[in-house]
Amino acid sequence: MLAEVLAALQPRDGERFIDGTFGAGGYTRAILETARTSVLAIDRDPAAIAVGVRPGQDFGDRLMLVEGRFGALDSIAREAGFAPVDGVVLDIGVSSMQIDAAERGFSFMTDGPLDMRMGRDGPTAAELVNELPEAEIANALWRYGEERRSRAIAKAIAARRKERPFERTGDLAALIERVLGRGKDGRHPATRSFQALRILVNDELDELSAALEAAERVLAPGGRLAVVTFHSLEDRIVKVFLRERTGTTPAASRHAPAPDVAARDSAFRFVNRHAVAPTEAEIAANPRARSGKLRWAVRS
Ligand SMILES: C[S@@+](CC[C@H](N)C(=O)[O-])C[C@H]1O[C@@H](n2cnc3c(N)ncnc32)[C@H](O)[C@@H]1O
Repeated sequence: MLAEVLAALQPRDGERFIDGTFGAGGYTRAILETARTSVLAIDRDPAAIAVGVRPGQDFGDRLMLVEGRFGALDSIAREAGFAPVDGVVLDIGVSSMQIDAAERGFSFMTDGPLDMRMGRDGPTAAELVNELPEAEIANALWRYGEERRSRAIAKAIAARRKERPFERTGDLAALIERVLGRGKDGRHPATRSFQALRILVNDELDELSAALEAAERVLAPGGRLAVVTFHSLEDRIVKVFLRERTGTTPAASRHAPAPDVAARDSAFRFVNRHAVAPTEAEIAANPRARSGKLRWAVRS
């Protein structure tokens, strides 16, 4: 979604941007190369910060890299003397670097420790799976993974952990496969549960809500907010936030202010109120992009 993100952010010389999800640095690099901009890049993953930008791409003092959570991006920017800003971009989810590293414990395809933490702190997936009450595990699988068999999986987890705690991704994936059987859709039966656990371990939905509010506080008038998401729970949070803040929430009652009155007082305005989808060419090159959605708006 890089081209679409750049079209939304419109980087111009002298402007300042926050990339809240540095990852492998693709978005940051593009913002720095499109114009003479400065970027404060944040990632909660120390490994992403340690790699930084590719050797030979020295952006000097135009790039500042900080390990931290994007939910606190406004305080990080203030502490760095980097506020207000002209744009904030978020590219939500795990990076391929994280999925591909078995020792991070995100993947059910390659066995590794059941960790799933993007940052250094908080409980691991193993701790949650071994210690949370069965009903809480079922709720998380249902809510964050939309797993219809959440109760059956939670029950099997609770029975198995009495004998031996879970430590490895392969062990948990095999148990889920025993409960669900092999799906017909070609996806591994543990896909939804692993997604749910990852969201729970990293408190991803609350982080996203906090980041949207933080972006509102740190953007200068005319500043652009661009958010790319890959599944419906996250997209919904962005959609509802932007509708509220642009005053375009479908009126719940006839006493609600007329849309033009609401829009006048609102924190953001839309240029395009619809989600932008990846092009067919991008999907062909990278099938993971299929579910990507970009939503963006301009700070009033
Ligand atoms: C999809 S990748 C970003 C890829 C990036 N746009 C690029 O071009 O390489 C998402 C990144 O966001 C980071 N991340 C996820 N949640 C975060 C949070 N709450 N705070 C900071 N970084 C977070 C992950 O560690 C991961 O590196």
